[in-house]
Amino acid sequence: MACFFRRSVALQLSKVVGVSEDALIPLISAVPVSKKQTTSDLRVSVNSLLQRGAVPPDGDLQTQTQALANQIKRDAVVEEVVAGRGVIHFRLNRLILAQKLLEQLHSEPDGFGVKSDLLRHLQGGRTLVEFSSPNIAKKFHAGHLRSTIIGNFIANLKKALGKDVIRVNYLGDWGMQFGLLGAGFERFGSQEKLKTRPLEHLFEVRPYRDVCVFHLLSLSLVDLFSLGLQVYVQVNREVESDESVRSAAAEFYRRLVQREDQALELWRQFREITVDEYKRIYQRLGVDFDHYSGESFHDGQTQNVLEELKTKRLLKTTEKGTGVVDLSAMGDMSSYATLVRSDGTSLYITRDIAAALDRKQRFGFDEMIYVTDKSQSVHFQQLFHILSAMGHEWAERCHHVAFGLVQGMSTRRGEVVFLEDVLEEARSRMINNMRQSRTSKVLEEPELTAERVGISALIIQDFKGPLISDYKFDWDKVLQSQGDTGVFLQYTHARLCSLLRRHASESYSCRDVSPLTDSRSVSVLQHLLRYDEVLLQSANDLQPRHLVNFLMTLSHLVASAHRELPVKGSPAAAAQARLCLFSAVRSVLANGMRILGITPVDKM
Ligand code: ARG
Repeated sequence: MACFFRRSVALQLSKVVGVSEDALIPLISAVPVSKKQTTSDLRVSVNSLLQRGAVPPDGDLQTQTQALANQIKRDAVVEEVVAGRGVIHFRLNRLILAQKLLEQLHSEPDGFGVKSDLLRHLQGGRTLVEFSSPNIAKKFHAGHLRSTIIGNFIANLKKALGKDVIRVNYLGDWGMQFGLLGAGFERFGSQEKLKTRPLEHLFEVRPYRDVCVFHLLSLSLVDLFSLGLQVYVQVNREVESDESVRSAAAEFYRRLVQREDQALELWRQFREITVDEYKRIYQRLGVDFDHYSGESFHDGQTQNVLEELKTKRLLKTTEKGTGVVDLSAMGDMSSYATLVRSDGTSLYITRDIAAALDRKQRFGFDEMIYVTDKSQSVHFQQLFHILSAMGHEWAERCHHVAFGLVQGMSTRRGEVVFLEDVLEEARSRMINNMRQSRTSKVLEEPELTAERVGISALIIQDFKGPLISDYKFDWDKVLQSQGDTGVFLQYTHARLCSLLRRHASESYSCRDVSPLTDSRSVSVLQHLLRYDEVLLQSANDLQPRHLVNFLMTLSHLVASAHRELPVKGSPAAAAQARLCLFSAVRSVLANGMRILGITPVDKM
């Protein structure tokens, strides 16, 4: 109930400045718990009061800070007001701090933080998040994995804050790669094999080896070779240079675009097989979608888009016969986007315009978020520009969340990485690590636990820095149990669960929290005061690192509290109050982890 405290401070503050409590609340923030024990709990910067027009500028900032601090009245909740450097510090009554926070955490653990006044303005409305969006019959690369976990985080966060969320997967399911696959299949393919061993077979028939669907298999290239497929690969390699393959592919794609039954039926089969595989992997990652769409759905709508652009005089035909939209500020074509090729076919951006219009109509979203790597930033700028030029004011509420590249995500099997290999690697390395720990021997489902912990390690590694940065992937660092890793978060959660299990028979209440005024307990409580601010920060810039840092600090604080505040052997009142605190922390930790897309484990 951080709001209760912010409101108490705002009440006293509003009596000496010229604006209302409500206007002051967002300016009041929790003091971060640093290593050195902080004595104040909340603070407000005088500059923010000046900016908000709450006080007029009055000479020297420090003198003004001091004067304001002197004027503010103390009361039962706000015990002390102290002037810092340009900042006014407030110290709360520690007993009330413990009481209010723990009371709320116990009566409504899942509403803690997310229902704060600070976040109320974000509630309501509908957010469409488009993420993952791999290309069918092409590689599912580390970028798609990043998009999957980042998009899932954004969708979880928005949902937690009270938005209606629609999760869309926009498959790259159209384009020349299907020409290749289709042409290959028509030469070497067999329907029978496609039924019995679908993905292996698609791999066999594909003329180009680098882009294919075998990454989706639990089988690696090595396994495929040992299955005796070298011959095919050899044939394909020869074929690679063959001009006739290219024309066959183009021909197949043309049939597809013209919706010829046989070609379409094959395409449908390839798509279905691949999507089924993706779904299996999404399930392992704990991710799901409300809607699978794809470029193929919107190809047919591009004609209408082009008509509309023509009517609005936005589409120009060039000498080469292509259709373009001028994006330059001066109208001199110094920058433009191509929407139609000279042969009349649509492009990636054309389908994206059609998809956006269709989604607006179908889902009536208030905001739309696209999650892809940063190489597509220009594409999305152009997309939003064109939508807005078409007169769609909602284009302003379309955002692109861009992320950087991951380097060196290789597995023991070698450099080439496929999504499923990454999950296997995370699980097997985790199983090994866990074998070395005493407690894991008694796990009922060690494989499942290892998988969950492994995935959380991947997620935390990915979410630690600014999303836009590239980072180097290092398995050993990722899976350490100490340091700021996903393993450490899971370990902290499991440890709290085990403590609570051990004392499950002693029913405890949070009625008397007076034993929680020691410095360890106070640090934990002070830190919990920040939760809603951290959620706000993440909601504002859609970066998970604020929440990650918060949960890491929480875990470190808990580790110290765990050491110094024993439950066993302590007097009943202290034991009960501590259990109350630990159980509150466990629920905040679990809720925060879930927003990040991590499933907390109870034992490990
Ligand atoms: N399929 C694309 C790729 O893998 C990503 C799609 C992103 N979304 C969009 N609406 N263009 O590069």
